[in-house]
Amino acid sequence: MTFGRRAFLANTTLFAGTFALGARAAGVPSSGTDDLTAFIYAMPKAEMHVHLEGTLEPEMKFRFARRNGVTLPYKTVEEMRDSYNFHDLQSFLKIFYEGKSVLLKEQDFYELTYAYLTKAASQNVLYTEMFFDPQMHTDRGISFSTVMAGLTRAQTDARKNLKIDSQLVLCFERELSAESAMKTLESALPYRQHIVGIGLDSDEKNNPPDKFREVFARARKEGFHLTMHCDLNQLDTHEHIRQVLEDIQADRIDHGGNILERPDLVAIAKRRGTAFTVCPVACGWLRENGENINIIRGMLDRGLKVTVASDDPAYMKGNYVAESLVVAQGDANLSKQDLLTLARNSFEASWISSAQRKTYLAKLEVFQRQWA
Ligand code: ADE
Ligand code: ZN
Repeated sequence: MTFGRRAFLANTTLFAGTFALGARAAGVPSSGTDDLTAFIYAMPKAEMHVHLEGTLEPEMKFRFARRNGVTLPYKTVEEMRDSYNFHDLQSFLKIFYEGKSVLLKEQDFYELTYAYLTKAASQNVLYTEMFFDPQMHTDRGISFSTVMAGLTRAQTDARKNLKIDSQLVLCFERELSAESAMKTLESALPYRQHIVGIGLDSDEKNNPPDKFREVFARARKEGFHLTMHCDLNQLDTHEHIRQVLEDIQADRIDHGGNILERPDLVAIAKRRGTAFTVCPVACGWLRENGENINIIRGMLDRGLKVTVASDDPAYMKGNYVAESLVVAQGDANLSKQDLLTLARNSFEASWISSAQRKTYLAKLEVFQRQWA
């Protein structure tokens, strides 16, 4: 299967419709007029692919800039939002990295995290594993302990006030060196009780998983779970997916949609029980090319353990996990049973104790009895 022009043409109306749907779904519907949308918001779920730095909403960016004395290259929130035009991973990352300049103090990291957890809790996310990229901050002279203090204080407060549980996944920036990743891993070791897993994100071009083979082997030895991004349609994507499955033997792949073109890799992922965190809104360029449309359906049909997540919601027109599920439902014509499978997968692929998993799955069963 290739993701060609046909898919693009088929998806152009869906593309326009999606953002209309996204806007309509911006708040929890007050009545049951749209049964499936209400179902999606109310369904208990976990989210495992959200970059905390990608939840920095423009309004928050301006607020932090003002109080930290940072000058932004935009005059208004609207101007900033209008600049969020990406055509590929690299053009997205350029804008994404620009945002970090306003994150300076422990309180900034606290408010960023607490705001995301508030939003997630409002969409019946019971549990989330949040990515953060310490190198984005330590490279600017911000200490690892400042970042960790803000993040973990927000997690504690959210657990108490909002009844949402969370853990952290530390991601390395893959365009940086393996030595830098190893140093980052070592500085994370004193915080290991707060960090459940290690991931890999950022610019995939010429930065294959195997570049980090040694550091991921060490992370595994230290007791961390492992995940890695294989963004859609990247150079050497099939070889990258193979490396994640066979060389690194990660527990999950973030995105990874091109696996559908390779039955041999699908078979390995199924045998290994690898989970996939797919982001149907993802960055605009992915939808524009029509690539996302059948990935969730394709993974469900092949029996892969697929979950749905939001990725960088502040850069994707405010589509958090519930809106992402609404988009996925529309794109792939998902039934209630499909949606329940996605939610069940999200708890099964979470890095939690079996007791915690049992509690969440029991809540999902109660929901199913009431709603399905
Ligand atoms: N960093 C933040 N979002 C990302 C994405 N979708 N792919 C790679 N790196 C990222
Ligand atoms: Zn991502």
